[in-house]
Amino acid sequence: MSQVKIFDTTLRDGEQSPGCSMNLKEKLEVAKCLERLKVDIIEAGFAISSPGDFESVSKVAEVIKDCTVASLARANVQDIDCAWDAVKHAADPRIHLFIATSPVHMEYKLKMTPDEVLEATAAMVAHAHKYCSNIEFSAEDATRSDPEFLVKVVETAIANGATVINLPDTVGYTTPDEMRALIAQMIERVPNAHKAEFSVHCHNDLGMATANSLAGVMGGARQIECTINGLGERAGNASMEECVMAMRTRRDCFEGLETRIDTTQIYRASKTVYNIIGQTPPLNKPIVGRNAFLHEAGIHQHGVLCNKKTYEILTPEAVGIRTDNLVLGKHSGKHALESRLKQMGYELTPEELKSCFDEFKVLCDKKKDVTDDDLEAIVTHASTDSAETGGYELDWFAVHTTNFTTATATVSLKRGEEKFEQVSLGDGPIDAAFNAVDLITKPMQHTFELYRINSISKGKDTLGEVSVKLMAESRTFSGRGLSTDIIEASILAYVSAVNRLLSYTERRKREAEKQ
Ligand code: KIV
Ligand code: ZN
Repeated sequence: MSQVKIFDTTLRDGEQSPGCSMNLKEKLEVAKCLERLKVDIIEAGFAISSPGDFESVSKVAEVIKDCTVASLARANVQDIDCAWDAVKHAADPRIHLFIATSPVHMEYKLKMTPDEVLEATAAMVAHAHKYCSNIEFSAEDATRSDPEFLVKVVETAIANGATVINLPDTVGYTTPDEMRALIAQMIERVPNAHKAEFSVHCHNDLGMATANSLAGVMGGARQIECTINGLGERAGNASMEECVMAMRTRRDCFEGLETRIDTTQIYRASKTVYNIIGQTPPLNKPIVGRNAFLHEAGIHQHGVLCNKKTYEILTPEAVGIRTDNLVLGKHSGKHALESRLKQMGYELTPEELKSCFDEFKVLCDKKKDVTDDDLEAIVTHASTDSAETGGYELDWFAVHTTNFTTATATVSLKRGEEKFEQVSLGDGPIDAAFNAVDLITKPMQHTFELYRINSISKGKDTLGEVSVKLMAESRTFSGRGLSTDIIEASILAYVSAVNRLLSYTERRKREAEKQ
């Protein structure tokens, strides 16, 4: 068996796309999911892009033990030095440097001649190689580059120490046939190609990212760069779950090739990432969408009842979706909860278990049956909880709303021992409640980017999950709230986002005072 490595760039290419930014705690949560999934390489960020990125790449490098951790760098000394500083403490560090090789990028973006790009490739790969033996080199926009020139660039990169050569389809332009031919051609024509592993990195602008990545593998690539849920610039990157499940389901086409991914962790990772960015998958999203395993049409249901294989090419269990939805209720004790969570793959510390059990009990008073989906929501909210320590907490609220008067809300928040109360009007109960929160917390000027309510399970008494995103100074501040009462869930989500905004403002103020 030969291995196809999975290089996950959710924390870099995924995170840099609009609406997908994450804070340090969330990035670490995603990194832990990726380690459980057994991805081979985690691209933790672009260290030089901001102090926050540097910090998160360093932290991921510090805590992740079972994956290679990479930082992206442009082909210049400062970027490479900074990338190395961020990953050097990793169990297995990698520097990933890139330079564009297509005529349009070289002329208009880099303003460099092809010879200058060749020189920079040689010098910068050699510079990175002084620090680290695990060097990935990417020829940005490779699929629109001149193959003759690409052969020279790739040969130069390998000659100077690159161990992985990535040929990205940066603008999602190529087709499967072309991708397969490009990789095969480079492996055949580059004289020292045998000294490196080839990799694909495909964007999804024309909806072909997964097909192009798999075609690259057929052409000889042994690394796929992808993201959870296909997050990424514009239309996204190749989706990890699609690439991995396609290779597994169509073993006949990928004979002798396998990934080391634990596919039963896919659903959990997908949910965690969607939760963090405040989105839900489109219903028909392959592998992880709500309808991906539903058979609604009568003829399909009949077939599936006779034999699942009639319409099911992969099972929900294979990607970690449980079909034995057990129901717990108010008579269920801590041990029942703990054992169900264990069956669902969640090992909690005693403190985490206690806090989940407390939330579970509160939920049991509001809802007769607590399902696996509810439990999952409680656990993921606890683990990716966006509340900033020392921030405001909801004490109580009251709203009055009709369809013929202006809504009013009274909100009481606590911060430490102190309590604050405000009343406000609004265009509906949620607007009124948010206005009351603003009167108490006085956050800096921001815009409201997202407000979304999602129901966790079926039934009128379902838990409502609210996601809120605020934008200030080109940064996003997200918050999530969970409750059977959607006004409460909304206030919890908003307070959580505001806490982050306040903590950012306070940090900025402290930094300014130091200077
Ligand atoms: O799409 C791209 O070309 C990239 C490179 C930096 C690898 O993300
Ligand atoms: Zn990319």
